[in-house]
Amino acid sequence: MTPSKRIHIITFGCQMNEHDSQRIFQLLYPAYEPTDNPADADLILLNTCSIREKAENKVYSMAGRFRKLKEQKKDLILGIGGCVAQQEGERLLQKLPYVDLVFGPQTLYNLPSLLQEAEKGHRVCRTELRQDFHIPTLTTHTPNAHPFQRFITIMQGCDNFCSYCVVPYVRGREISRPMEDILAEVKEAVRQGVKEVTLLGQNVNSYGKKEGRSNFAQLLRAVADCGVERLRFMTSHPKDLTEELMRCFVEIHCLCEHLHLPVQSGSTRILKAMNRRYTREEYIGKVHRLRELCPEISLTTDLIVGFPSETEEDFQETLSLLQEVQYEQLFVFNYSPRPFTTAARLPHQLPLELKTARLTQIVEMQHEISRKRHERLLGKTVEVLVDGVSSKDISEMAGRTRGNHVVNFKTADDLTGQTINITITEAFCHSLRGELQIKG
Ligand code: 5AD
Ligand code: SF4
Repeated sequence: MTPSKRIHIITFGCQMNEHDSQRIFQLLYPAYEPTDNPADADLILLNTCSIREKAENKVYSMAGRFRKLKEQKKDLILGIGGCVAQQEGERLLQKLPYVDLVFGPQTLYNLPSLLQEAEKGHRVCRTELRQDFHIPTLTTHTPNAHPFQRFITIMQGCDNFCSYCVVPYVRGREISRPMEDILAEVKEAVRQGVKEVTLLGQNVNSYGKKEGRSNFAQLLRAVADCGVERLRFMTSHPKDLTEELMRCFVEIHCLCEHLHLPVQSGSTRILKAMNRRYTREEYIGKVHRLRELCPEISLTTDLIVGFPSETEEDFQETLSLLQEVQYEQLFVFNYSPRPFTTAARLPHQLPLELKTARLTQIVEMQHEISRKRHERLLGKTVEVLVDGVSSKDISEMAGRTRGNHVVNFKTADDLTGQTINITITEAFCHSLRGELQIKG
């Protein structure tokens, strides 16, 4: 038997990309075995993100770092996939003469044949996006797969065309997978010992809408019936958050009480310019209804500051929305003009200093809100699924509550992958600390 070759993947961006990288490992295994060391690899792939300019720039500096390695190791294949590859296509091969292979989020499934071409010495670029694309079902178990957590794609692409966002151009139109395919992957994951499943898509709550088959709430119920211990999903669009879906948080026991609901701005005027299709009041109304149904739900969000023409008044509306909603955590970004998008062509682009000053103000305000939200858990005993050793302190282990809060705790045993009870003793802005409760 010929020994396997080795593959090293560097992933940028969102969980969708993390998941695509995992799918690449599955597609190429066992011909290619994963390695953590790029110097050992026969194939290095960069799975790229183009959501903001900063993310795109990282790709060029990272590719440059592998140029030397390529010069030393003639057979090494260097490929670029993901959203920057989709956006730039052939231009990447022209800009980076040492790159062998360029592929997009759909054509990654052609990698086995694309690699054969590259191994023959051809430079290959395949980045078409098809509307009739069928996301393949892959259940191959690879050595680096997470043993107890799994991401499963339920839909790909986006039809929303928020005016700032490049995703619809690089990931294509929304395509939902048939429910049978998703359930087959979930069942296999459960059989392999996976406890926590996260359903992934750019806009999961419009699942099945276009195809006119089952809707997202029905899919959640069917996945829950497969014996999953914890179920999560991301990302949701507020306009598609229905009463039926909100009720799922009460009716489906394994569905964790956490919703990531990107608001982007607290100003109705800016939301309209962003083409978000909800007002500030509609968003807040949905949050109130959700909390009425499920008071313990934790909410997180994404925000963009410095969208073209954002005034001080608009910004103040964002700050007041944050005070009103009280998120557990948020992710805030400086607006970054992206290729193809309508917002990039708007007048009144804001200077970087102003965007950064607004971003800093939000981060500081949210620290206080997060800490207060976390303090509500002091003295409570919560269920934690243990991820592993804490990244901050190797004498501690870390896990997540159902509400997605990070909890650190001391223990003499390796409890990775176990679901345990912890009593919360300290609250910080990004995490909690607690004491392990001995069962019995
Ligand atoms: N500039 C800044 N942030 C952006 N996002 C998407 N596009 C842009 C952009 N052009 C943010 C949004 C989205 C998150 C994934 O990235 O907040 O929810
Ligand atoms: Fe981008 Fe809007 Fe689609 Fe999200 S919903 S991926 S922000 S276009």
